[in-house]
Amino acid sequence: MTERTFSIIKPDATRRNITGKIITKLEDAGLRVVAQKRVRWSKADAEAFYAVHKERPFFNDLVAFMTSGPVVLQVLEGDTAVARNREIMGATNPAEAAAGTIRAEYAESLEANSVHGSDSPENAAIEISQCFSDAEIVG
Ligand code: CMP
Repeated sequence: MTERTFSIIKPDATRRNITGKIITKLEDAGLRVVAQKRVRWSKADAEAFYAVHKERPFFNDLVAFMTSGPVVLQVLEGDTAVARNREIMGATNPAEAAAGTIRAEYAESLEANSVHGSDSPENAAIEISQCFSDAEIVG
């Protein structure tokens, strides 16, 4: 079933100029980039996006990291896109990520883990609408 998911290429990856390498991994996994923009998040943007984590001990560090440089926001489309993207990203902690995944190959740490991807179709819809208008998504 064709679905959409939301993806972020994080500041550790934009800093190292490896966004193309990451996009190639996504495309090779069968995902299509149907919306994309490079932005610098404000503190308020990052706090709003990660509001679900606001009680977590790592929240302030996460917000500081996500505002430390540009991010690339994407909508990815494909067959079972949410699960497929999570598979190609690998585990949140790069030390646990399977060989060949984006995080195994490129992530620097649990925080600087190169990419974010939605964890469910429901959250994908919420995250997409937080960051993109319908007119910006071209399938
Ligand atoms: P992401 O998928 O963007 O969602 C929240 C992020 O918090 C996560 O990826 C990690 O990069 C980051 N993070 C930092 N510390 C932790 C932690 N202890 N547990 C889970 N996520 C963490």
